Amino acid sequence: MLSEQERHEIEAQSHHYPNNRALCIEALKIVQAHRGWVSDEGIADVAEALQMAAAELEGVATFYNMIFRKPVGRHVILLCDSVSCWIMGYDGLREHLHARLGIGLGETTADGCFTLLPNVCLGACDHAPAMMIDSAHYQDLDPAGIDEILAKYQMNEIREEKKEKREPPDGNTADP
Ligand code: FES
Repeated sequence: MLSEQERHEIEAQSHHYPNNRALCIEALKIVQAHRGWVSDEGIADVAEALQMAAAELEGVATFYNMIFRKPVGRHVILLCDSVSCWIMGYDGLREHLHARLGIGLGETTADGCFTLLPNVCLGACDHAPAMMIDSAHYQDLDPAGIDEILAKYQMNEIREEKKEKREPPDGNTADP
């Protein structure tokens, strides 16, 4: 079943779309934002809410490559493998990511931080090679640039982890 929050967010978006069919990708994105990916249960929940057939929604989710139908890491790297990026060094970048993170395409790092996926053209062909991490775009990439970008995400993870350790779940601090 959709959570109250998911239902509320889908309802808020519904005013921007002419019908439920047009709304369904946005609804799937909302479920994904809350759950990390869209499971069969997520498909069934959205189908029920939008009064669509689950099979039809499944078709949309499978076609749309920003909807993840399997669990992914906390950050998803979408490496462009279309023609301009391919010419401008895609193979080398893929190998660099493989060496740096220890994962190939379609895999997630052991610590759950990154999932690496291939992606069709990201619309930055004049600044190839390009990739996205979550919703951020990166272009004119080279191995050193990739290392810098990944280091920022990894530093943020360490910061978040430290913050969580300092703040107990109930929000009270250890100090009086
Ligand atoms: S081919 Fe990679 S951004 Fe267009």
